[in-house]
Amino acid sequence: MATELDCSNLICPLCGELLHVSGGSLLCPVRHTYDIARQGYVNLLPVQQKHSLAPGDTPEMLAARRAFLNEGLYAPICSDVTEAIRQYAPDMKMLVDIGCGEGYYTAAFGRQFPDANVIGADIAKTAVKMACSRSKAITWITATASHLPIADHSTDVITAMFSLVCEEEFARILRDGGIVVEVTAGTNHLIELKHIIYDDVFEQHKRPKPPQNFLREIACTLHTFPLTLNNVQLVHLLQMTPHTLRVKPEKRAQLESTQQLTLTVEYFVRVMEKR
Ligand SMILES: C[S@@+](CC[C@H](N)C(=O)[O-])C[C@H]1O[C@@H](n2cnc3c(N)ncnc32)[C@H](O)[C@@H]1O
Repeated sequence: MATELDCSNLICPLCGELLHVSGGSLLCPVRHTYDIARQGYVNLLPVQQKHSLAPGDTPEMLAARRAFLNEGLYAPICSDVTEAIRQYAPDMKMLVDIGCGEGYYTAAFGRQFPDANVIGADIAKTAVKMACSRSKAITWITATASHLPIADHSTDVITAMFSLVCEEEFARILRDGGIVVEVTAGTNHLIELKHIIYDDVFEQHKRPKPPQNFLREIACTLHTFPLTLNNVQLVHLLQMTPHTLRVKPEKRAQLESTQQLTLTVEYFVRVMEKR
C-alpha cells in the first residue's frame, strides 16, 4: 500500500523541509506535493535536477540486470557488503542505497536488516518503478545522488553498489560516525569479456581513488571469484553493462553464440567514514 511508505527523514527537494504523508502524497510545510505512485515509489527528482529526459540506465539494461541478478550470480558481493555493514555499523537504523537500480541489493539489505529504515534511490524512474516489486518494506525514491532529498545527519550507512559517490552530499546526510560502503570493479573484473569485446584492453586504476575532503577511508578489500556463465546469462551480462553500447556487431554475435564462458568477478569493497 502506497501510504505505508516511511517518509521519516525525507525532505522536500525544492525547499529542504521535512515531508509528511497526506493521503496518497508527500507534502512539505509549504505544500510542495509529491504523489506516491501506484507501485509505491515517490518521484523526488525535480525537473531542475534532471539533466536529460530519461537519465540513468535504460529499460533494456535494467531488464537484463534483473534477469542476471535473480540467478544469484552476484550473491557473494551482497554478502560481503552485508558483512561490512555488520562490522562497521552494528547499530545501523537507517541505510540509503544510492543508484539502487532495479533493487536487488537494496531488497537484500532490507531482508538482512529488517528493523532498519532502508531507502533505495536512483535517478532512473524505470529502475525505481521496477524496484518496487522487490519489496514493499523499502522506501523507493527517484532522486539524484548529488541532491539527496534526505535530512542532514540522518543516515547511518550509505551503500553505492557499482554506482557513484558524491562525497559532500553523502557527508551531509550521514550522522557523525556514519559510513559509506562502496563497491567498485577491480582491474580484472570481467576481463575475459573485455578481451573478447575490445581489441586493446587498457589497464584501469588498480584501486579506487582516495576520498578527498569529506570522507576518510577506513577499509578497502579486494574480492575475486570465478563465474561460469551459460549462453543466456552471458547475454544478460553483456546487456546490463555499458559494454552493450560499445560492442561491435561481430563481437556481439560472437558472444551471443558462446555457449559457456568463465569470467573473473573482481571488486573492491571500500568502507569510508564521515570526517
Ligand atoms: C551500474 S548501475 C548499478 C545498479 C545497482 N546498484 C546494481 O548494482 O544492480 C548504476 C545505477 O546508478 C544510477 N545512477 C546514475 N546516475 C545517478 C545519479 N546521479 N543519481 C542516482 N542514481 C544514478 C543508474 O540509473 C543505475 O541504475
